[in-house]
Amino acid sequence: MQKNYTSHGPDEQTHGVASGRVVILGTGGTIAGTAEDASDNVGYRAAQLGVEQLLVAIPPLANYLLETEQVAQLDSKDMDFATWQRLALRVEAHLARPDVAGLVITHGTDTLEETAYFLQRVLAPKKPVVLTAAMRPATALQKDGPQNLLDAVTLALDPRASGVLLAFAGQVHSAEQVRKIHSYKVDAFASVDGARLACIEEGQIRWLAAAPVTGDAVGTKALSASSIDAWPRIEIVMNYVGANGSAVRALLAQGVDGLVVAGTGNGSLSVGLEAALREAQSAGVSVWRSTRCDAGPVTSSTEALPSAGALSPVKARIELLLTLLWQKCGAQSR
Ligand code: SIN
Repeated sequence: MQKNYTSHGPDEQTHGVASGRVVILGTGGTIAGTAEDASDNVGYRAAQLGVEQLLVAIPPLANYLLETEQVAQLDSKDMDFATWQRLALRVEAHLARPDVAGLVITHGTDTLEETAYFLQRVLAPKKPVVLTAAMRPATALQKDGPQNLLDAVTLALDPRASGVLLAFAGQVHSAEQVRKIHSYKVDAFASVDGARLACIEEGQIRWLAAAPVTGDAVGTKALSASSIDAWPRIEIVMNYVGANGSAVRALLAQGVDGLVVAGTGNGSLSVGLEAALREAQSAGVSVWRSTRCDAGPVTSSTEALPSAGALSPVKARIELLLTLLWQKCGAQSR
């Protein structure tokens, strides 16, 4: 594999020869994980191999014009705002380059849908930004990472692709719809409340649906305007048997800027939880109501607390975070 170019530091290199450049940003995850025993698919450490090492294991990638950059190296359960901020700025910078056709981001599966939604809402890119990952470490007997990464590069070069997407297990999902639906299976993601966008079959993309239309990009200005420590604190609480609002009152006592409640069914709340959430709202905390169901929206009603629509609780949290961040930075309405 030819390495003929270094632009931003020791972790960035260009490979091979092909038309259309794809930049691959590494952030860690199981795709970069290693286990001591090749038959061990669960007892491994995530984020051990650099993105450059992942490419070496995929000979067909030698035919593509690739560039790599290690933006982070972590288990995605530990993803944080500072890494999100850095990642968004690097994605924005690479997207602005005329020689770059698309981006791929290697990521852990556990919070992938959150990072995907965050990048979609911040950047709403016209070029494809394709996240990919693996359920099995790079040392597994039957690893899924190399095929997923090859598929992601194929998708990043497809002229019909745009926005933030996930290429995983031969399927393409939008950032808005994708959720991790299984803790262990290799086919771990689904578009739960809409169509998956495409299948990737032997290097061919078979498009099935158009990507959902989202709002305008929030932009990176608001992300950089205040320090990470000053980003709004948004927490998620849940309705369940016996939920009485004590968790909400504890959060209020600590200081919180926003609350997303994962209600039961169509966003219903116990009397005690709703009372505590209304107290929070009266104290100036933004409260959004979503559902703990795996799919479907929360319908809005004038009497109820504001609905988060069809967003899952974790994605509603990101939407509320960006809304408050935007307001806080005094930016114009989007
Ligand atoms: C992670 O999310 O970083 C670890 C788990 C995974 O990638 O499947």
